[in-house]
Amino acid sequence: MNSLPKIIIDTDPGQDDAAAILMAFGLDNLNIIQLQALTCVAGNVPLPLTQKNARIICDWANRQDMSVYQGADRPLLKPLFTAENVHGKNGLDGVVLHEPKTPLQSQHAAVFLAETLSQAADHSISICPIGPLTNIALALRLNPECVSGIKEIVIMGGTFFETGNVTPLADFNFFVDPIAAQIVLQSGVPIRIVPLDVTHKACLSEKRINALRALPNQNGKRLADILQSYERFDIQQFGLDGGPLHDPCAIACAVYPQWFTQKEVYVEINTHSGIAEAACSVDWHGKSGKKPNVSWCYQIDDEAFFEQFTQAIAALP
Ligand code: RIB
Ligand code: CA
Repeated sequence: MNSLPKIIIDTDPGQDDAAAILMAFGLDNLNIIQLQALTCVAGNVPLPLTQKNARIICDWANRQDMSVYQGADRPLLKPLFTAENVHGKNGLDGVVLHEPKTPLQSQHAAVFLAETLSQAADHSISICPIGPLTNIALALRLNPECVSGIKEIVIMGGTFFETGNVTPLADFNFFVDPIAAQIVLQSGVPIRIVPLDVTHKACLSEKRINALRALPNQNGKRLADILQSYERFDIQQFGLDGGPLHDPCAIACAVYPQWFTQKEVYVEINTHSGIAEAACSVDWHGKSGKKPNVSWCYQIDDEAFFEQFTQAIAALP
């Protein structure tokens, strides 16, 4: 049994999800991690498309052996809110899509997670949710003992020092399912949060996209096209120089936590409707007296991140 860090990605592909999954496949090819499975959730686009896109991405990496599961087709309570305005109608604007060969597993993603984590060696698997947290919350409710198998949960989501990208105070992943986010954050499992506070410091640029395009493989050019389409939204909305690579930051944080400046804080998610829905109440100075429940990332070594990201993509077909 190899001792490489084991990772399961829960995802709603989604253009930046595609970048994160391809990065993980590249790190797997470089024998840096062992990517165990992809579990799909409704988010950027509806579930039939997120699971299809995840399988397409596996085909792009020539990894039809990867186990892909589909889970929740809607949040725990709210109606589904999607982001075709960012990612395109099919969720992967920027490239032509094919019918995937990678099979879809029949088991529900939440059942797969609950069973796999409860049977895993103690604290042996890192979970990287890069979409709404519905599947993770369901797994924790289905079998609370499954926490024994979790090393940590590294979540792309939330915001505190940055304004939100869906509402003034919320990021997309927590906004789609704030109740699921609150369940996960209160679970007692070791959690790192990779919020907009840090992903907005990991932005694409012409130079960074050209470095991908210059790679001697198909996935470098393909991802450059996808990311060129993806970054329009954030450049327009935030006036950033380039699109923030939200989801790959979560993969990087799971594998290279030393690149991230983090603070142990107590965080609650607002589950009430209104302008502050899904906002993160972050006790930055420990005034609540509540025990910290997450490690909150707020700085990143973006040069190291982009260098390793590009090297991981270079390790793909
Ligand atoms: O707020 C950014 C998050 O929302 C990313 O995961 C992106 O893919 C969207 O799901
Ligand atoms: Ca996502």
